[in-house]
Amino acid sequence: MAALMDIPSLPGLGPEQLLPRTGVAASFPFNRFGLELTYLGRNAVWRAARMLGLEGGEVIVPAYHHGVEVSALLHAGARIQFARVDGEGRLDVEHVRACVGPHTRAIYVIHYAGFPQPLDALVEIARECGALLIEDCALSLFSSDGERPLGSLGDAAIFCFYKTLPVPHGGGLFMRKATTAGLAPLALPPLLPALSHLAGSMLVASERRFPSAGRWVRTGAKAVTRHIREWARDEDIPVGTQELDPAVLHLGMSPMAARLLETVDAKQVVQRRRDNWFLLHEWIGRPGRTVWSSLPPGVCPLFYALEVDDKDHALRRLWSRGIHAVDFWRYGHPSVPRDCFPEVEALRRRVVELPCHQDLGREELERMARVVWEVLET
Ligand SMILES: Cc1ncc(COP(=O)(O)O)c(C=O)c1O
Repeated sequence: MAALMDIPSLPGLGPEQLLPRTGVAASFPFNRFGLELTYLGRNAVWRAARMLGLEGGEVIVPAYHHGVEVSALLHAGARIQFARVDGEGRLDVEHVRACVGPHTRAIYVIHYAGFPQPLDALVEIARECGALLIEDCALSLFSSDGERPLGSLGDAAIFCFYKTLPVPHGGGLFMRKATTAGLAPLALPPLLPALSHLAGSMLVASERRFPSAGRWVRTGAKAVTRHIREWARDEDIPVGTQELDPAVLHLGMSPMAARLLETVDAKQVVQRRRDNWFLLHEWIGRPGRTVWSSLPPGVCPLFYALEVDDKDHALRRLWSRGIHAVDFWRYGHPSVPRDCFPEVEALRRRVVELPCHQDLGREELERMARVVWEVLET
């Protein structure tokens, strides 16, 4: 019997993504003039904070966060007030209101896994207190609140493309009003690490799509990829870390990676992710075991947020069966006061990220759901 392929956490780069796309209009944010393409999402956070003049001011940030976005705000000179997030991942609007003080300059909203926060209420608070609204869409590319694309309402919106699309790196900053605030233009990143990542991603994708391809083809491709990786090692700029490296904040996205964004069919990505989310939800069949138990129209889910009692056990089990589930946000920024946000601490302890991306098919989802069943039963 053929060995089962692993189920990767991110989509891979297929040959069709190298071809120019015709007849499909670009979707938000790629259809907006002035979208800046940065190397990472954190670069966009830092630039937004500098452009909006947040230095010395206070920013209200959800207590449930990755951690590096907080570091980027602090590095730009902002001070942070943490606001409550409930057990269903909703930012507590009343607590945000209570956090507002004389030095509040901005409200920072994070749309988790594609699910929109209550923007109208937050816009109202921002207006009342004269604060700016920043939408962090690192986890919600192509997602909408009904008809309104996430990221289109705030004074600034931050994106992180490599979490949704098969690009080696890349973040985005969209400012509602153009400003540069004396910031230097973004610099080009080194070429080799991007090339190495792309080669690796193509290799994984082709192994998944053409498992019966000749062994020599795969062996040859692996050797080439290994060589590129070795050349690129000295120049590598890691992606997806929790630590902020100020030395790379000035870097933009490489033109080669940016070209891949032009080939994306956003509608198709959204549809595939939604279909996959629905299938997982149905097959896992435990609505009480997911942070978001319904998928409103317009949401492009980044992953399926499974809640488990013993995260280490669940992850070990999933990984041992080839499912690249992710330990989602176990630790936040160290400056969050202890014991103040019990619901957030519970989410950090319990949430496992299951992939539902556009590369996955029914068989893989069924296999994943079966393993989840085992995890929840033991
Ligand atoms: C909510 C959020 N904002 C910003 C970032 C920063 O993105 P990057 O790792 O590309 O710098 C992340 C990273 O995971 C994130 O989860």
